[in-house]
Amino acid sequence: MALISSCFFIILFLLGFAESQPLTHPFNHTDLQSAIRDMRAKSYYGFAMLLQMLTGTTAQPNGEFTFLMPDDKQLSSSSISADQVGDFLLKHAIPMPLYFSDLSHFPTGTLIPSGNTSKMIRIHNRGKGDFFLNNAKIVSANVCLKSVIKCHGVDAIIDYYN
Ligand SMILES: *[C@@H]1O[C@H](CO)[C@@H](O)[C@H](O)[C@H]1NC(C)=O
Ligand SMILES: *[C@@H]1O[C@H](CO)[C@@H](O)[C@H](O)[C@H]1NC(C)=O
Repeated sequence: MALISSCFFIILFLLGFAESQPLTHPFNHTDLQSAIRDMRAKSYYGFAMLLQMLTGTTAQPNGEFTFLMPDDKQLSSSSISADQVGDFLLKHAIPMPLYFSDLSHFPTGTLIPSGNTSKMIRIHNRGKGDFFLNNAKIVSANVCLKSVIKCHGVDAIIDYYN
């Protein structure tokens, strides 16, 4: 039963995703810069810097994403090489803009695509304060407020098992 309801949710999610077509929108530079300002205002300097590194390159994340941001301490202890930055950011993104109130509708077990569509994120939802995306818990919801792009602080680098 849980599996069926999860599948149902994924289908609803993907239908909504197909209809809104966020990834086909032209890139809005102002919007990304505004998201980066909100990240810096909440001291997510490392994640903001990774995004800045790709701005203007072909690896730049392009679309209305929700970013899942490990804090500076976690980022500085992980080994991301320069050519892995794009892949790293896509694995810390959901390809549609979601406030925490949107995320909170997904029941435990729901699988949602990451920015790398071959990698799925599994939701574990016991409400605010106990909401996980794979291994990473949301510790700071709705950091990006002035942009279409959304972002949330998480307590770990996101691991993928699939
Ligand atoms: C780009 O993003 C900014 C900030 O969110 C917004 O004000 C502006 O209308 C957007 N422009 C386009 C062309 O979507
Ligand atoms: C998606 O992830 C796989 C496995 O880590 C990687 O080989 C591939 O290049 C990634 N795709 C993109 C678009 O980053």
